[in-house]
Amino acid sequence: MSAPKRILLLGSGFVAGPCVEVLCRRQENTVTIACRGLEKAQSLASKYPGVLAESVDVSNESQLEDAISRNDIVISLIPYTHHASVIKAAIKARKPVVTTSYVSQPMLDLDQQCKDAGIICLNEVGLDPGIDHFYALKMINSVHEEGGQIKSFLSYCGGLPAPEDSDNPLGYKFSWSARGVLLALMNNAKFWENGSIVEIPGKELMASAKPIYVNPAFAFVGYPNRDSTNYKERYNIPEAQTVVRGTLRYQGFPEFVKALVEIGFLNTDNQEFLSSASSETYTWNQLTSKLLNSNSSTSDDLLRIIESKITAEPALKKRILNGIRWLGVVSDSIQVKKQGTYLDTLCARLEELMQYEPGERDMVALQHTFEIINSDGSEETRTSTMLEFGIPNGESAMARTVGIPCGIATQLILDGAIQDTGVLAPMTKSIYEPIMNELLKDDIYCVEKVL
Ligand SMILES: *[C@@H]1O[C@H](CO)[C@@H](O)[C@H](O)[C@H]1NC(C)=O
Ligand SMILES: *[C@@H]1O[C@H](CO)[C@@H](O)[C@H](O)[C@H]1NC(C)=O
Ligand SMILES: *[C@@H]1O[C@H](CO)[C@@H](O)[C@H](O)[C@H]1NC(C)=O
Repeated sequence: MSAPKRILLLGSGFVAGPCVEVLCRRQENTVTIACRGLEKAQSLASKYPGVLAESVDVSNESQLEDAISRNDIVISLIPYTHHASVIKAAIKARKPVVTTSYVSQPMLDLDQQCKDAGIICLNEVGLDPGIDHFYALKMINSVHEEGGQIKSFLSYCGGLPAPEDSDNPLGYKFSWSARGVLLALMNNAKFWENGSIVEIPGKELMASAKPIYVNPAFAFVGYPNRDSTNYKERYNIPEAQTVVRGTLRYQGFPEFVKALVEIGFLNTDNQEFLSSASSETYTWNQLTSKLLNSNSSTSDDLLRIIESKITAEPALKKRILNGIRWLGVVSDSIQVKKQGTYLDTLCARLEELMQYEPGERDMVALQHTFEIINSDGSEETRTSTMLEFGIPNGESAMARTVGIPCGIATQLILDGAIQDTGVLAPMTKSIYEPIMNELLKDDIYCVEKVL
């Protein structure tokens, strides 16, 4: 048996479980789950033999430093805004760090200090970012090694309900805060297309969604993520004319969100009458009537006003209006749970209606499409595709595809199989190859195809 190893895992979200499970495969490992509230940590720890729980307030420097110094490595699965403090504490203790988040500027600023301390802070080792990097770079590097070029790189990824559990107006379910999901739908986007940078303002992002063919069984659409332009550099494909990373949803999702925006439901201004301090109560039709400045609050009148506000072709419009009715926002029998703003109040309703129920499962779909110019001038298209399904009443596909690579990366660092130092993402073979190979044992991989 190898020397005993102690692993500190910050956070107890749904991704933590599969990560802990990977680390529990090795006898010499002792995992400690740390949250601010001890009970939360204990409730996750109790599911795995030998896993410990501890209360750590990451905003308390001395507590954080003390906890990290008692371990050999720290995994940070808490919100990304805390990562820089975790890394600073880890630098003091000279202990490596693993996260599944994008490398942010405050994290990158600690690169030299990590190198000086001789530690790695390895980030972006989940699904997206994570598995997407591994299989993008695997293909890109093999094309380059054969003397070929990447003319175009498209990458779409989505976490969705499995088809049988997707039948609601959004074709979507919320496994975390609806607010974050909805606000992300109004981000500006930027990518390379045919040799030029294309920019899409946030208010047009949903309208920019296009059908994406991944597999004949799915009606997917995709829209671009925030900023794909730096992937020419990150993936070392300066020759690429088109570089897009985007999000997959089921058909109808962007149009429905666009309608919610057009109605005004995504308004983030504080409304006096929606504050918890106000004693007024509303039914949903009354609130929607207020939002629409309507002098009537009957559901038929409200739907008529909504119909005049949304732009969509007739068949789709009908589907959207049915969806609005399904949401209950024109109903006179559903009480509003006030949350300060229209957006948050709507989110509370969406979260109520669009949760995964017991026995339902999610799905993760990821596809890269590479247009390749071979060294002899011939052109071909290759794809790398992953479809993963959640286990009913067990772990979700999202939790597995984020948590397992994170656990594997942690184990590889403990084993000395990844020796780089600094604040890094898995952009080099020395890092992504061992993780990718270990993932095969868990049946997590992309299928590569030449079309
Ligand atoms: C930080 O944690 C330490 C140790 O638990 C405690 O003594 C101290 O009061 C905490 N500091 C703050 C600002 O909460
Ligand atoms: C890029 O080229 C394709 C194929 O010729 C074309 O359909 C598309 O509109 C072009 N996009 C831009 C932004 O020029
Ligand atoms: C309500 O408003 C509509 C359109 O603004 C108007 O045509 C109608 O007469 C109004 N009804 C009442 C009862 O005020």
